[in-house]
Amino acid sequence: MGKKVLVCGGAGYIGSHMVRQLVESGFEPIVFDNLSQGHAAAVTGVPLVRGDLLDPAALAELFAAHAFDAVYHFAALIAVGESVIAPDIYYRNNVVGALNLLDAMRTAGVDRFVFSSTAAVYGNPETELIAETHPQTPINPYGRSKRMMEQVLEDYGRAFGIRSVIFRYFNAAGADPSGEIGEAHDPETHLVPNVLLAALGAREGLDIFGDDYDTRDGTCVRDYIHVNDIASAHLAALDWMETRDGSHVFNLGNGNGFTNREVLEAARRVTGIDIPYRIGPRRDGDAATLVADSTRAKTLLGWTPKTPEIEAIIESAWAWHRAPKYGPFSGA
Ligand SMILES: NC(=O)c1ccc[n+]([C@@H]2O[C@H](COP(=O)([O-])OP(=O)(O)OC[C@H]3O[C@@H](n4cnc5c(N)ncnc54)[C@H](O)[C@@H]3O)[C@@H](O)[C@H]2O)c1
Repeated sequence: MGKKVLVCGGAGYIGSHMVRQLVESGFEPIVFDNLSQGHAAAVTGVPLVRGDLLDPAALAELFAAHAFDAVYHFAALIAVGESVIAPDIYYRNNVVGALNLLDAMRTAGVDRFVFSSTAAVYGNPETELIAETHPQTPINPYGRSKRMMEQVLEDYGRAFGIRSVIFRYFNAAGADPSGEIGEAHDPETHLVPNVLLAALGAREGLDIFGDDYDTRDGTCVRDYIHVNDIASAHLAALDWMETRDGSHVFNLGNGNGFTNREVLEAARRVTGIDIPYRIGPRRDGDAATLVADSTRAKTLLGWTPKTPEIEAIIESAWAWHRAPKYGPFSGA
């Protein structure tokens, strides 16, 4: 039998792709998710425990029932704009929830943790490419909640011997080629799914938030990384922690920035549809440009993204969105 790993948030977008790769690699994942955003249908062939990180008793029961080798922590609230309006809910879920999880691990003697952090910890970047050493000055409560947990992990490493790998993802996009799982947030705040939903007529055109940023066409620039490439780095993280104490941070991105308009054009090429859009005001908490320097993950973890091209990423998302198996547009 493979090693048992806990995947918190494994019914969500990135977590469900992680679960698939873990199964393919011979691990035995157990999913813990409150299904606030996740989908039971995204979890097939592995146990799904429905529970909340804000419920320490549920966590104690989970850790008593299984001897986990490591914990992947994807469960969080993720909408930057919402975090500006409801910081209380974001800090409680993303900080208190994660602390509860770490405490349950300590009680059970589990000492390996992989944490989903974000490019939002960098705030407004001072350099074109952002390396891990770039100052971390997040400009919204979502980013601050993630930065706080990164600091907690450094301290827990020193004080309690918790080993951790922190991944700062840039913009996750795309879907598994199986067509079985994909992105299905409600509401959807990410650009790639929203462009494709507009192409399908499932929403009334695409909203672009601001065209007066200091970028080549005035719209925000982001670095898109295929969800399965994020998952493959997480597998490498387990090997990394075998031989290393403490907390280690890695960016995950492709190092290419695309403006919102360029993503729209790429989606027009992929879909063959002249996707309608309108320019609205800036959204609170958005940085103008976020592009990763991921040299560290490539050289130290031996990580190689398999689907770095933006059109291939959008193509895989398009295949999912045309026939989603679950979520608000599945017709289920
Ligand atoms: N999607 C991106 O582009 C992106 C970028 C950077 C970082 N991240 C981080 O990656 C992680 C996964 O993102 P995602 O896009 O898959 O989000 P998601 O919303 O699809 O998945 C998160 C999952 O966690 C669950 N969850 C949330 N709060 C919970 C709680 N208190 N108890 C139990 N389960 C809970 C949700 O039901 C959901 O299934 C998040 O931590 C997010 O901050 C995502």
